[in-house]
Amino acid sequence: ALYAPSRRNSRGLDFADRQTLRTLAADMNRIGARAPWNGGPLCGGRLRTGHGHGVYAPSDRGREVGRVTWAGDEDLETALAAAHQAWTDWDERPPAQRAAILDRVADLLEQHTAELMVLCVEEAGKTLRDAQAEVREAVDFCRYYAAQVRERFIRPLSLPGVTGERNELTLRGRGVFLCISPWNFPLAIFTGQVTAALAAGNGVIAKPAEQASLVAVRATQLMHQAGVPVNVLHCLPGRGEEIGPRLVADPRIAGVAFTGSTETARLIHRGLAAREHGPIVPLIAETGGINAMVVDATALHEQVVTDILRSAFFSAGQRCSALRVLCVQETVAEPLLEMLKGAMDTLVVGDPHWLSTDVGPVIDDRALAALQAHDEEMRRKDRLLHRARLSGGCERGSFMIPSLYRLERLDELPGEVFGPMLHVLRWRTGELDGLIRQINATGYGLTLGIHSRIDAVVHRLARQARVGNTYVNRDMVGAVVGSQPFGGEGLSGTGFKAGGPHYLLRFATERVLTVNT
Ligand code: NAD
Ligand code: ALA
Repeated sequence: ALYAPSRRNSRGLDFADRQTLRTLAADMNRIGARAPWNGGPLCGGRLRTGHGHGVYAPSDRGREVGRVTWAGDEDLETALAAAHQAWTDWDERPPAQRAAILDRVADLLEQHTAELMVLCVEEAGKTLRDAQAEVREAVDFCRYYAAQVRERFIRPLSLPGVTGERNELTLRGRGVFLCISPWNFPLAIFTGQVTAALAAGNGVIAKPAEQASLVAVRATQLMHQAGVPVNVLHCLPGRGEEIGPRLVADPRIAGVAFTGSTETARLIHRGLAAREHGPIVPLIAETGGINAMVVDATALHEQVVTDILRSAFFSAGQRCSALRVLCVQETVAEPLLEMLKGAMDTLVVGDPHWLSTDVGPVIDDRALAALQAHDEEMRRKDRLLHRARLSGGCERGSFMIPSLYRLERLDELPGEVFGPMLHVLRWRTGELDGLIRQINATGYGLTLGIHSRIDAVVHRLARQARVGNTYVNRDMVGAVVGSQPFGGEGLSGTGFKAGGPHYLLRFATERVLTVNT
């Protein structure tokens, strides 16, 4: 049966409509002129700013777009104490009130689309299309979780019992959740984690990524404006290695929602295990992947190539879901790769402010250096197959040229390569089972793409692959809230899936009331 709690995903902006574009451009220019922005810890509704750390545009490292003051010990203590004290009132509110506030958050985010897009472009180097997708996804999370609250949290679940006995199961908040988010979806994932925790009745300490805190602080202000009590939700920008372990260790933290690298998830896991005080808490971790697309001889080349560009290179390859290894059947590899190289030459790699740009910058020079080191290693092994071209004006930004490499074995990859770099592995007829074993052997399990017109092949691969999201005969990025709940397994995460029917359960505790009537 179709599972579709009543609400609608955001329609977003129609980029094909000239008037919409004109209005958006005017709004973005007006808002952009307000730069530089100031961010800092937002505790109890009070924003503390100061000289702070410079935030530089990934598309132009010489341009300071803002300054962010990082949270110190006092901010941590203020936020933890206030949230610990305030969350029970929030949890005891009628769940319908919480749902109504989340719907208001969605409306406010939508009303501030242009401003949030500006911040995503300036601070995180998002292209205009990706920036608007950020806002849409954030809005969709709010409305989806609001609908989930109405469906699951309002009425207790009646359970059977002996005659004269009533059994009821209710879902309640757990306490104060620590929500740690990554820079690559600085608005969508930030909002998704925070609103899920709030929806379930928790207080929240949000720790955004240091590379993209301005947009997170602004989103938190909008959440307060929508009615989330200022003592229930606090935002603490800061360096993960410094404030992360201190927050994780604090006994007032009753749960952690983390999205980021697998390595950081392990550190947090260890930190939680080492705690000597406080509750035993759940860790919801959504992490990286070495994602493959398997293409067989029956696939439609034009469609495959379009889907590869979107999956591997758009968003500068900085999606956890992005395609890293193209596994193509030997018999069709040559023509397919020739077509792919031609298509790579048409990619517009450059200034994210332009609507025509397909691939913007990577997040910073550190990320660029890591990608360049991988590129050097692949070239040293003579594995470079093709490179796209940079547009003019990229000299001052952190731009990585989309590149294609040859692999001999899947285990040659050093790990997740987080940028617009695609690796090609050829396979021969009869090697499909071995290939899927190699993919499973990476230990990651996030996304898989399949391009084949043979149902039996599709079913076999989909059944054998241990991944969270499998996409057949389409691209493999851009999961839609409510339609493609997103998240992986193994090294890629713990589940439940964001934007799915079970996600809120991870943030809640179950209570059973048994009454002898
Ligand atoms: P990261 O692990 O470096 O940082 C993520 C967050 O953790 C940041 O807020 C950071 O400040 C914080 N952090 C760092 N060290 C910490 C510590 N010791 N304790 C607590 N917090 C700490 O990841 P990133 O570079 O920001 O993001 C990219 C990674 O995120 C990629 O691996 C990508 O695949 C993954 N990702 C996964 C998903 C998913 O849904 N599965 C979505 C987006 C990104
Ligand atoms: N949810 C994001 C995607 O599907 C990561 O691309």
